[in-house]
Amino acid sequence: MQELPGVAGEMLSSTYGDLYRIDRTRGQRQDKAPKGQFGMSTIQRKLKTVLILLVIVYLIINIYHTSRTILQNETQIALLRKVLNKPLCVAHQKIIQRLRRLTKDLTYVRMSVDRDIAMAKIIDGHYDNLRQLLREIEFITSSDVDSEDGRRRSSEDQVKKSQIVCPEVYKGSTYGYPFYRKGFQTEECSVKRDINELVTLIFDEVVLTTETGDQMGDFTHTGRMNRFFTFLESVYRLHQGIRAHFILGRSWNQHEIDTLRGNLTFDLRTKISIQSLRNYAFSKGELLQHIIDDIKTQYILIAPSLTRFTNDINLERLLRVLSTHENTLFAGGSVRNRTGHWSHGCLQTQLKNYTLTYKSGYYRSFSECLVCDFISGPFMAKTSVLKEFGFQSRGDGGIFQELFLRVKDRFFNSHLGLGHSRTSVVSCPDVMFHWQPFPVLDKDLVNFAKKHSIKKIVEADGKVRWFGCRRAVKHREGEKCPSRSGFVVPPCCLENLADAIKFVMEQCERNNITCELQEGTLLGAVKFNKVLPWERDADIAFLTADFPRIVKIKDAFTRQRYVVREIKKPWCCVEGFQAGGKIELLADGWSIQMYGQHRMNPRELLANEHLPTKVLFSGNWLSAPCNPGLYVRHRYGQEVYRHAEHWLSTGKQSGWDAYETKVFSSCPVKGFHGCLDQYESDGSIQFDN
Ligand SMILES: *[C@@H]1O[C@H](CO)[C@@H](O)[C@H](O)[C@H]1NC(C)=O
Ligand SMILES: *[C@@H]1O[C@H](CO)[C@@H](O)[C@H](O)[C@H]1NC(C)=O
Ligand SMILES: *[C@@H]1O[C@H](CO)[C@@H](O)[C@H](O)[C@H]1NC(C)=O
Ligand SMILES: *[C@@H]1O[C@H](CO)[C@@H](O)[C@H](O)[C@H]1NC(C)=O
Repeated sequence: MQELPGVAGEMLSSTYGDLYRIDRTRGQRQDKAPKGQFGMSTIQRKLKTVLILLVIVYLIINIYHTSRTILQNETQIALLRKVLNKPLCVAHQKIIQRLRRLTKDLTYVRMSVDRDIAMAKIIDGHYDNLRQLLREIEFITSSDVDSEDGRRRSSEDQVKKSQIVCPEVYKGSTYGYPFYRKGFQTEECSVKRDINELVTLIFDEVVLTTETGDQMGDFTHTGRMNRFFTFLESVYRLHQGIRAHFILGRSWNQHEIDTLRGNLTFDLRTKISIQSLRNYAFSKGELLQHIIDDIKTQYILIAPSLTRFTNDINLERLLRVLSTHENTLFAGGSVRNRTGHWSHGCLQTQLKNYTLTYKSGYYRSFSECLVCDFISGPFMAKTSVLKEFGFQSRGDGGIFQELFLRVKDRFFNSHLGLGHSRTSVVSCPDVMFHWQPFPVLDKDLVNFAKKHSIKKIVEADGKVRWFGCRRAVKHREGEKCPSRSGFVVPPCCLENLADAIKFVMEQCERNNITCELQEGTLLGAVKFNKVLPWERDADIAFLTADFPRIVKIKDAFTRQRYVVREIKKPWCCVEGFQAGGKIELLADGWSIQMYGQHRMNPRELLANEHLPTKVLFSGNWLSAPCNPGLYVRHRYGQEVYRHAEHWLSTGKQSGWDAYETKVFSSCPVKGFHGCLDQYESDGSIQFDN
């Protein structure tokens, strides 16, 4: 977290060079332009005047005729009055919905006449017209656009005080040090209600693994039942008295289910229902629907494929988001699988040209939650909303994909620029679910694809599925990297830093040294899966006990022509452990700060956790604190998913000062293609290459 000497400055000279070039070309164009205008003769000008006069006369005659017709037509006048009294915006929701349905129907018709080229062309024409009309109506009637900053308003206006959970307050950047398991704390208040009265849990196929990670099926029936009870205990240790439904997979037979039920204590028997898909003639969607129809609580958590139930599943936080944001209907969190691979779980979808594309990332955030089209993991929703939307009834697979596609369809505003203004679905990554999803096979999605006429699905990881139509540099030579306020760091420089970070982490792993990404480096991984575009340095924490091992592998770094500096030796002791120790690594003009920490995870987590959590960072999976989303939220505070420049750029004293997420500072070289101020201060997708 220290500024490097001599890294700034070089950019400007080349930048101004570019600008001069631009100005020069512009100047030339201006020189040429007037010459063309002088060529216009006076005859042409007279002709123009005559033409304009003719047009005006024509228009006057036309207006006269029109007004006469209107006056003569009583019904038309009545109609006009009606429109005047009842403007479109009063009933616009209904009209828009009908128009949308019509547009969709037209697409189906269009598909049925695929072979008749002439007909297809005609329908395409109608479709375009209708679409245009729909957009215009949406534009005229949209209450979102009538303010200067409509996009912000639509979400933030509807924030209200929660009537069911108490508010949180942020205690500052040092409060949760060093593990950041705390930071935002719930305040006392009078409205608080018992979570058990508010939420019902639905577990969709709990994944019961053994200690070594073998999945069910690999161990005996009693083993599997014992593990089921262990899971059950972990739920009820945290939420005594909550109601829960378990949907077990088709491998559970009636006898096993009866035994499970029989072994529940009397108290639990009234709270829990256990069902196996095997016993039902209908699909998972229908079973879910059936369960939901009977639920009385206001909210439901639907959790597919959980492996563990821990206090990282912060139900109160999800309740707060759902109850304070009127437009937010679904709230999920991040997911971590059995091998520790973590992701924020927020995906965007695009359905175009028969192709459904999933893309990881977000355009907007609020209250440290990302606005999504689809959340991959478990989610909480308002019961009324789930009842209204329902589930696809055919097949067991793709039901959540199908649900979220319909949600997007309903709330998506097709007017350009407002496409991402809806906040119906969010992921709050500090809420973390341990899960192990079953691999999704192409055949699982057939019903989903059919229902929406999808012929191709492109997953977030690039995997392509086809339906219906087909079967199946080293950058290290040369100059230092400039980093200055107002500019993004050039891509090659970010690449150097990412390489260096990955190299260090690789060495840690190879030599059994406990290391993890922290601070801004972790923030970059959580938000962008790479280095922050405005980064100044890197932060890696290591276990102080491993300090001698790092010193021992110094050569590995110097062979890469990195410079290793021992800044501080470890000291004794914190809680009986060696503490501190600091090493700085100079790599390609970057400084990587390595801090010793006496312990790397809270003791209670070490007891449970077999593997470190891994975050995707510039293509590699690197170790991170146990719950990365929670760490960054507690470390950086309010609106951490909106952006703030490095503290060195904003004139702060240190990285411990509060970060304000706001617009990027204005660029010192206006219009330069490396300016940071051309980006929104929210959203990750804009920083994709
Ligand atoms: C469940 O109950 C059966 C008897 O109904 C008993 O034999 C078995 O040990 C119990 N299992 C557990 C895990 O409590
Ligand atoms: C966890 O997720 C990562 C990344 O998606 C994947 O490579 C890995 O195989 C997954 N682990 C398991 C046990 O499925
Ligand atoms: C639709 O997708 C196909 C293949 O992905 C492509 O060749 C075609 O040009 C696309 N059509 C439109 C209108 O984008
Ligand atoms: C790695 O270190 C741990 C203790 O820190 C030790 O138990 C383990 O045997 C070591 N593994 C290897 C491969 O050196």
